Amino acid sequence: MLSLPVLLTERFQAVTGVDPELRPATKPQFGHFQSSVALRLAKAEGRPPREIAQRIVDRVDVADLCEPLEIAGPGFINIRLRSATLAGVVTGILQRPDDVIGQAAEPTRVVIDYSAPNVAKPMHVGNLRSTIIGDCFARVLRAQGHTVIAQNHIGDWGTQFGMLVEQILFEGIDADALDLDASVALYRRAQEHFRDDDDFADAARRRVVTLQGGDEQTRAIWHSLIEVSKAGFNRAYARLGVLLTDDDLAGESIYNDLLAAVADDLQSSGIAVVDDGALVVFVPGDEAPLIVRKSDGGFGYAATDLAAVRYRFDELHAQRLIYVVGSPQAHHFAQVFTVARMAGWVPDDGVLEHVGFGSVLGPDGKMFKTRDGKTVTLDTLLDLAEEVAAPAIAMAAVKYADLSTSLHKDYVFDAERMTATTGNTGPYLQYAHARVCGILRKAEAEGWRADAVTVLDEPAEQALALQLSRFGEVVAEVSETLQPHKLCTYLYDTATALSTFYEQCPVLKSEGEVRTSRLALCAATRTVLAKGLYLLGIVAPDRM
Ligand code: ARG
Repeated sequence: MLSLPVLLTERFQAVTGVDPELRPATKPQFGHFQSSVALRLAKAEGRPPREIAQRIVDRVDVADLCEPLEIAGPGFINIRLRSATLAGVVTGILQRPDDVIGQAAEPTRVVIDYSAPNVAKPMHVGNLRSTIIGDCFARVLRAQGHTVIAQNHIGDWGTQFGMLVEQILFEGIDADALDLDASVALYRRAQEHFRDDDDFADAARRRVVTLQGGDEQTRAIWHSLIEVSKAGFNRAYARLGVLLTDDDLAGESIYNDLLAAVADDLQSSGIAVVDDGALVVFVPGDEAPLIVRKSDGGFGYAATDLAAVRYRFDELHAQRLIYVVGSPQAHHFAQVFTVARMAGWVPDDGVLEHVGFGSVLGPDGKMFKTRDGKTVTLDTLLDLAEEVAAPAIAMAAVKYADLSTSLHKDYVFDAERMTATTGNTGPYLQYAHARVCGILRKAEAEGWRADAVTVLDEPAEQALALQLSRFGEVVAEVSETLQPHKLCTYLYDTATALSTFYEQCPVLKSEGEVRTSRLALCAATRTVLAKGLYLLGIVAPDRM
């Protein structure tokens, strides 16, 4: 879609040579955009700012898009778009809805590592936030034409499986008959057993070796445990309505065969050294070393992530890796990224990003716990939201709460506030969408069809049209900065501009061309709200 600020910036820059830094006008009487470029240039040239402003205004070629430019105060340039320009942009949304979100100039291959729950453990709130945020990134980047490779790095490997398998054999139970809850309970029993019984602990450790050695019975039980958990994860994904499928599963275990080479290569290049029997990397400027191989010969979480970085660039041919994992793991990823670069596993233009996020807090401002003091799982959170709202609304509330504040901040889980249909909430946006659908339904029942926006005389109409014209820019910004709250704020502002428009401009009760044009403006708003909500992973209902 034609981005007005981009277009205007280009035209100005042809004259000023520097970025005119267009800003939205602070008041409607100043037009739509303002620039203070003349003040900056005047300083550099030692000339009066109004003189410079006049020179720019005389030369800049925007007559096809704007009303005559105006100079205000000490030398600001006020830019007012012609109604026809705005009308053209909005009509474009109606006629080419698929082009509303611009395509990236250079499509890239992006790996997004998100969700990543652990086998035989309940999905915790961190996994929930990761799933919601990662799903939003996948939607935004795909919409812009990037190739997104979702990688669900589930915890399906590690010494805990020795313990789990040993406990299953000890109890003589059928692993296939477990469900996720039962396997979580089994995990607890195994942990206690491991703690209290040295013989069992030894057997569990030996079982890890048997598992790694590929013993058939052990592998079969391990495999059943994964299947059981996978079914549980998939139920959660279905409940959340996210795009993840089994094809995106790429758990820790797939890197198992690559770990020895990771260690060898780091050691032979001198990046990793043996320290106290362990193979470690002393990362410059970092006190804690990164442990590649433990002194008992086992590989841990960091080695797996190093192998994954290598695999994602080499085998998946990614250009950008995005990790959506809670902020407490920031240090882990900083180390992994540094070591991967030292080892030369990251192409020169390869991008590595850890997108951290904060915790979900209870009303008391502390880590959210259930009434009986347990950590909150995905299901408890969703159940709590569904106590106060219908499922589609509860889900919108939870997702929006997750996406609408700066990701690194903790947020308080307040089901009442989150599900309210007023204020900056997911349900408010759903309601705005449903309401505009209702108006259009009535008009369509009378035979009206969306055609073009032709009249934009009222400030509220212009403000809404201008707001709609910014959608593509905002989506592009989110794909670069990975800050979904910018899209949330944009949609909230759009819904607010829509409601101001309703207050000031009758739609169904108006007549003639004004009526058809206002309905068309409503239809374009419906498109933007629906697409925007889709990018957040939120359902846009037609009725509420
Ligand atoms: N399984 C981990 C957890 O639940 C998250 C894994 C994140 N991804 C990664 N590549 N380390 O905390």
